[in-house]
Amino acid sequence: MKYDIKDIKLAKKGALRIEWASNNMPVCRLIEKRFSKEKPLKGLKVAACLHVTTETGVLMRVLKAGGAEIYLCASNPLSTQDDVASSLVKNLGISVFSIKGENTLTYYRHLQAVLAPKPDITMDDGADLVSTIHQRAPEMHNNIIGGTEETTTGVIRLKALAAQGKLRYPIIAVNDAQTKHFFDNRYGTGQSTIDGILRATNMLIAGANFVVCGYGWCGRGVAMRAKGMGAKVIIVEVDALRALEATMDGYEVMPIKNAAKVGDVFVTVSGDTSVIRGEHFQVMKDGAIVANSGHFNVEIDIPALKKLSKKKRTIRDYVDEYTLKNGRRVNLLGEGRLINLAAAEGHPAQVMDMSFANQALSAEYIRKENAQLEGDVYRVPQEIDSRIAELKLKSMGIRKDTLTAEQTKYLSSWESGT
Ligand code: ADE
Repeated sequence: MKYDIKDIKLAKKGALRIEWASNNMPVCRLIEKRFSKEKPLKGLKVAACLHVTTETGVLMRVLKAGGAEIYLCASNPLSTQDDVASSLVKNLGISVFSIKGENTLTYYRHLQAVLAPKPDITMDDGADLVSTIHQRAPEMHNNIIGGTEETTTGVIRLKALAAQGKLRYPIIAVNDAQTKHFFDNRYGTGQSTIDGILRATNMLIAGANFVVCGYGWCGRGVAMRAKGMGAKVIIVEVDALRALEATMDGYEVMPIKNAAKVGDVFVTVSGDTSVIRGEHFQVMKDGAIVANSGHFNVEIDIPALKKLSKKKRTIRDYVDEYTLKNGRRVNLLGEGRLINLAAAEGHPAQVMDMSFANQALSAEYIRKENAQLEGDVYRVPQEIDSRIAELKLKSMGIRKDTLTAEQTKYLSSWESGT
């Protein structure tokens, strides 16, 4: 079995940490139990490019129970938990290619390694597998029956590929399931981003001017949690509707050029490029903290920051202090990569339970329905989304109400009015 990980001796610690995550992933455990009986993925090779975390470890267990042969690489050079990678190799027999801190060359070598066995299904978080296949190995799509995509940025890339008529196989947009983005993007990113900033800096959030760039599901979550800890939250947004929403949620809204002058902490979660640029670093307060929680490290213009600086030193783990030529210091966290996975452990298991239940059930759906699907981006079927919500609620011991027969009839009628 081939693999490339940091240290196989870390397996024991990784196994315990995966067990800990699994304790909080009841929906995945239910699917694992059914999969181990029914083997719906038997004979399928799955190439997965995901953050190699304890929660991903649980997903790997579910897919393996379903009969899949799995090849796993990281979807970000800084997001691998090396003990988890080790446990997946040693205890589950999964071919893992990922090392925390790997350089770009190794990152892409690892992507190639999971594609080499010619997978039947791809599982992406950010669309790097699909992009690699389409740009560098177009013959490979003949073998592939479908893929899944975990995150907003990946779905945007894949929809762009589909819009050009070039997407060669069907993709299920797991991100767009309600049981995924309502919870993972909002409460997961909200908590884990604050967690990453705190672990990296140990700063006091209370009283800080906390600038959130982007008010999508992730931005809403980060803003909500920063506000809860006493920060004065400022939202930077380009969309009128979202800017209105942020205003009525009680935040100050302003362009980045104004926010740059007053912010103590900046977090980018926009999914776009060059959100914080040279002219903004120039006017920041001495000691400003800048972090990213969007998928790619393009939201903060790091080359511009480097150009403006006369000195750089790593002052703490995950904190690079840049001294600008104007004498002020800007602290960049986690090299501008996803701070929640670089300095912390990513989203908690309780939300990843639903995200990864969507992944597992989408893989099963692709197996069953691939003949009906074309080279396009598809929603997770509503029936799967609703089932996951029901199971999650039940696992939490929460009972919802049900409609009476009279109410059901009323909702499907039009006759009675004022
Ligand atoms: N993305 C964000 N948090 C994650 C986690 N804990 N595991 C896998 N992917 C993630």
